Formats: sequence, structure tokens, C-alpha cells
Amino acid sequence: MRAAIAYARRNLGRTWPNPSVGALVVRFEAAGPRVVARGVTEAGGRGKPHAERIALAAAGAAARGAALYVTLEPCSHYGTTPPCVEAIIAAGIARVVVAQGDPDSRVAGRGVKILRDAGIEVKAEVLADTAEAGLAGHITRMRRGRPFITFKLAVSADGAIGQAGAGQVAISGPEARGRVHILRAEHDAILIGVGTALIDDPELTVRLPGMAHRSPVRIVFDSRARLPLDSRLVVTARDVPVWLVTGEMAPRHRIEALRAAGVDVLPVPTGPDGRVDPRHAMASLAWKGITSVLVEGGAALGQELLGLDLVDELAIYRSDVIVGGERIAAPAAVTAILAGDVGRFEWTANHQVGADRLYEFRRRLY
Ligand SMILES: NC(=O)c1ccc[n+]([C@@H]2O[C@H](COP(=O)([O-])OP(=O)(O)OC[C@H]3O[C@@H](n4cnc5c(N)ncnc54)[C@H](OP(=O)(O)O)[C@@H]3O)[C@@H](O)[C@H]2O)c1
Repeated sequence: MRAAIAYARRNLGRTWPNPSVGALVVRFEAAGPRVVARGVTEAGGRGKPHAERIALAAAGAAARGAALYVTLEPCSHYGTTPPCVEAIIAAGIARVVVAQGDPDSRVAGRGVKILRDAGIEVKAEVLADTAEAGLAGHITRMRRGRPFITFKLAVSADGAIGQAGAGQVAISGPEARGRVHILRAEHDAILIGVGTALIDDPELTVRLPGMAHRSPVRIVFDSRARLPLDSRLVVTARDVPVWLVTGEMAPRHRIEALRAAGVDVLPVPTGPDGRVDPRHAMASLAWKGITSVLVEGGAALGQELLGLDLVDELAIYRSDVIVGGERIAAPAAVTAILAGDVGRFEWTANHQVGADRLYEFRRRLY
């Protein structure tokens, strides 16, 4: 199961609205267990083959009498692909080992039941906690109707995330930036507030060698559709999708100009402050199939999401750099967490990444 979980990670961020699932066909022979075939959900989303079908097709006749290890309960419904349980039964699999049950109401235990009714031995909840990280997007989208949200931020030694009027300020080192690019590749979408777009003009793509095709959807919360037409995001919108989440009162001519430039504009209700309502926005993203969002700033958006309890995971890079000058302070909620007032979060890890220290926190579910 550990091998299936590791294999599932390969397509994280590339299969939405489907989860990236891993499946192994294993035969128990005199010399010990042997993996005869494996599959991971095919990239590209709706209608693409699920991991089980890929693994079974690769196994061919070797699937008869074998065990299937799969990280998520096999599907039992006709969606854009026929149910995997049918393929498993038809292939003659003798035993199915599952890590996580599927919270999708169309499956939710039915997958396991159909397999058992067909005489297949099923063992469920094997390494369920280990598998959860890779399935967190799917589980959160199904249970909460929103994507799983990770907030990543680099904070300087003097508590800054930027400097007024300075554009992009290097706070973390190259190793941390490399790690952030991997994080981008494993998410369905990256999100920033329009403040960051105006000040930093970021591209938000994956720029590790050979991984450009892993750039996720780039999303900007921009209540008044202020994103400049000559910004890096807009100029590259036809190569890597840009979704602008805007208020219903945003000027029509701006929306039309951005759409004409290839930006997908999503109007959502605004709150009393006239800003995009993050709860509605996240629900619309989930509705469009996004299961995981990496929030990359800035201060205002981060503070708002933390305040609304819309952050599931927090990754804070602390650096030794002193920003000085007219600094833009880290969100108050982040400063409090770093000072030990973790609230709903629990500290999960702490690594050295080059010259920076990475602190990771996860939201407690209560
Ligand atoms: N160190 C890091 O890791 C890091 C990462 C990213 C950015 N930064 C820095 O952060 C600074 C920008 O931060 P910022 O606070 O000015 O901007 P921001 O958080 O990126 O964007 C804020 C803007 O987003 C829009 N927005 C829409 N809906 C919102 C909502 N519900 N809540 C909050 N904002 C919403 C608002 O403009 P409208 O009302 O017009 O929609 C708001 O002014 C820059 O200096 C940048 O360099 C640092």
C-alpha cells in the first residue's frame, strides 16, 4: 500500500476533478509477493481512465487470482467512465486492499459492498492516514464543498513579507523557491490577491527543468477586475490558464478586455466590504472541479482566509534576511502562530531548507 500511495503522488495536481489514485496488482508467488502491474489516474480530468483500469489492463491475464492494492475505494457508479468495480470483478481479482473510503456520495461504501457481494475479499482502511495527504483535495471537496487550501508564505527575520514600493523582494533562498515550485506542481491551482499581482507581477508557473507542463491554474481574487492587461499573468493566459475571481459589480469593459485576452472571469458575490466573498469563491472553484489550492499571498488575502478558517495547511519559510525600510508585515494571524499561539492549527513539521527554516502546520478538525 505504501508503494501505491507513493505512486499516486505522481499525478497530484493533474487529474482534477478526479483524485490522483494509485493501484497495484500483486501476485503472491512462492518467492514472495510480486507487483505485476501498476496504474495511476491518468492526467487530464473528467473521462480519463482511473488507476484501477490502467493497472488491470497492464496486468492482463495475470490479474486473475491476484490482489489489487488501491489508495481510494473503487468507484461503483457510471460517471464519464464505467465503474471500476465491474472491471475488477471481470478481471478475476481475488482480494482488494483499500486505503481510504470514497466520500463521494455516489460511491461511499457501495464500491466495497459490490466487490464483497461478488465474492471478493476486501480489506479496507489500510494505511488510511498515510494515504490521506494525497487524497485531501478530493476528500475536502466532497465533504466541505471547497478545495483543500494550503497557505505558503516567506517571512523575513524582521517579520516582513515584502517592502512597500520595492516589487518582489527575495526573502527565501533558492532551495525554498525550488520546493515551492514542486508544491505548485502538486496543486490544482495557485491563488493570489490582486495586491500581489499589482506589486510583484508574478508569473506563478512551475519553472523547474522539464516540469513546465505541470503549471497549475493561476487564480487571482480581484473584486474590481484591476489585473493589468500587460501583467505577466494576462500575457501568458493562453499558455497556462488564468481565472479571475471578481465581484458582480466589476466594470464590464474590464471583464470583456480580460476575457478577450484569454482570462477566464468568474463573477462571485461580494461581502459587505465589496470584496470577493472567499467562501463563495472557494465553493465555485470546487464546483469547477478544483480540489486543491496553494495560496501564495499576500498579506490581506492570507489574513482573510485564516480569519475565516479557510486554511487547512500552513507552510511558513522563516529567513534570516532583514527587509527593513517600509516593510509589509506578515498577516497578524501568521505572526501569532509563529509566536506559539497556534489556535486551530497543530504544528506538524519543521525542516531546514537551504538557509531557511520551514514550519508546517495543519488545521485540527473539530
Ligand atoms: N513573502 C511572501 O511569501 C509573499 C507572497 C506573496 C506576496 N507577498 C507580498 O505581499 C504584498 C501584497 O500583499 P497585499 O496584502 O498588499 O495584497 P494581496 O493580499 O495579494 O491582495 C489583496 C487584494 O486582494 C483583493 N481581494 C479580493 N478579495 C479579497 C478578500 N476576500 N480578502 C482580501 N483581499 C481580497 C483586494 O483588492 P480588491 O478589493 O480590489 O479586490 C485586496 O486589496 C506584496 O508586497 C508582495 O510582495 C509576499
